[in-house]
Amino acid sequence: MNTLELHALNKTYGTHRALDNVSLSVPSGSRTVIVGPSGSGKTTLLRMIAGFEFPDTGRLSLNGQTLVDSTHEVPAHQRLIGYVPQDGALFPHMTVAANIGFGLATKGNEKQQRVAELMDSVALDSNMAERWPHELSGGQQQRVALARALAQQPRLMLLDEPFSALDTGLRAAMRKMVAKLLADAGVTTILVTHDQSEALSFADQLAVMRQGRLVQSGHPLDLYRYPEDEQTALFLGDAVVMPARIEAGWAHCDLGRIPVNNHRNNSTAQIMLRPEQLQLVSLLPSDAEMSGCRAVVTERDFSGNTCTLTVELQPLVNGDQRGRSLLVRSSGMYAPPAGSAVHVSTIGHAHVLSEP
Ligand SMILES: Nc1ncnc2c1ncn2[C@@H]1O[C@H](COP(=O)(O)OP(=O)(O)OP(=O)(O)O)[C@@H](O)[C@H]1O
Ligand SMILES: [Mg+2]
Repeated sequence: MNTLELHALNKTYGTHRALDNVSLSVPSGSRTVIVGPSGSGKTTLLRMIAGFEFPDTGRLSLNGQTLVDSTHEVPAHQRLIGYVPQDGALFPHMTVAANIGFGLATKGNEKQQRVAELMDSVALDSNMAERWPHELSGGQQQRVALARALAQQPRLMLLDEPFSALDTGLRAAMRKMVAKLLADAGVTTILVTHDQSEALSFADQLAVMRQGRLVQSGHPLDLYRYPEDEQTALFLGDAVVMPARIEAGWAHCDLGRIPVNNHRNNSTAQIMLRPEQLQLVSLLPSDAEMSGCRAVVTERDFSGNTCTLTVELQPLVNGDQRGRSLLVRSSGMYAPPAGSAVHVSTIGHAHVLSEP
């Protein structure tokens, strides 16, 4: 049971609070992804788990063993935690093979064989074994760092933006491969990334950090659908946010009446819908009398299988609507062209956001 428990961790550098009361539970064998703006404390948190930073206050335990509290400090090399830092940090005076084999207890042929297997597992060609780190691309260096961390057979793996230097295709392939590799070995993993889709697809548990605080954690789908506030909503994808009056499970807003999942009666609040929850139907001149929400497509951004449209709601006769612009995600091939009149409807529930 490799459950990592972070309890009320705090870390201050001078007057800057890098970690502010961070608590999180990472279940055994799971994949937790940490996202957050630059400077929000992600690397500080990973370095603390690895044992390269120490909290001012708080407790950290792995598998029931206390790693850090006010009286204990288990040193990094005794934690059996693999850490791939943000910059890879290879030993510059060692070849690829020597970097990967650095911590292996085996020698001779057996060691060579193991290094070859590890190189293969991260899709590094065997002819790179004798190269020096400065002769590798950024993405290749990241893969050597990953192989070096895997060689230690860690009980917990910490990956700080390990795929950031890879191109989109290789990045997706590496992500799948690493996820499988770690799952097969039963290694609990914490990954930091700036890539939204990587975070949502890799994680069993997603944690969002902001200004040293962990603002929300949970299943990625839940965070995507039910973000705590507007900032978190926008951090995980595009969002349509608008004011509404909430009454008896319904939001009354510029789009009409939409059911809400989290009730807060008789109040005004900001609600959120994801752009793919809006549906457009092209209007013909003969539909002039069609009731409901009408809009005009003002922009169409085609990106292959999807198309992101900007539509402007048309004011109703009673003046309830104020020409609000909305983002809509539509099928790339069948999206209505710019300038066309459309009818807007919604799918599913709107989510009521917390006050900032
Ligand atoms: N050793 C240090 N001394 C002083 N300040 C530090 C130190 N390490 C980190 N910080 C500060 O703490 C904050 C959090 O840094 P951290 O590296 O954890 O951010 P991050 O979320 O990983 O950002 P990025 O996405 O840019 O990698 C930043 O404001 C940073 O400047
Ligand atoms: Mg960082």
